Amino acid sequence: MSDRIPLPYSPKVLELFRNPKNMGRLKDANTQAMAGSLACGDMISIYLKIDDESHLIEDASFESYGCAANIAASSIMTELIKGKSLEYAWNISWKQISNELGGLPVVKYHCGVLAVGALRRAIRTYFKEKKFPNWVPKELTPDEKHALEEEKLIEVLSKKMDKTKKPKIDFNYRSK
Ligand code: FES
Repeated sequence: MSDRIPLPYSPKVLELFRNPKNMGRLKDANTQAMAGSLACGDMISIYLKIDDESHLIEDASFESYGCAANIAASSIMTELIKGKSLEYAWNISWKQISNELGGLPVVKYHCGVLAVGALRRAIRTYFKEKKFPNWVPKELTPDEKHALEEEKLIEVLSKKMDKTKKPKIDFNYRSK
């Protein structure tokens, strides 16, 4: 028998983990972003189909290589933003997502932050070739900074791993 203590996930988290909504690549998305969490090394992609005239989100989906909390957070987040404006989506917070899920365990807060960070990155990417609206700050928000891009995540993680490596022993070394 396993001696691991299961995390206290809410029934909503478990339900959406087992039956996530909007999971998979969105073929006709006109913006997307990939992001990774430094806290755990997991990755997520967000896809949005946006109406260029109204800036309403017509469709949203995600791919997650994360945990149950991240899958549930991404699932409910995509549900919350469908049909809504980009400004509404930008202002969604991980706390709001956590509340919608009936709460996340403290050690899983970063999984919600990762979902929000990826969403904001996708919105910022959408406006890169256009004019940024005044509700998108010039500086990256803390949620966006938390959600590192794939290359950056790999770079930071490999640096971390290098630091934890034991010093190499030079077997050819001879003392004089
Ligand atoms: Fe990595 Fe949840 S532990 S996303």
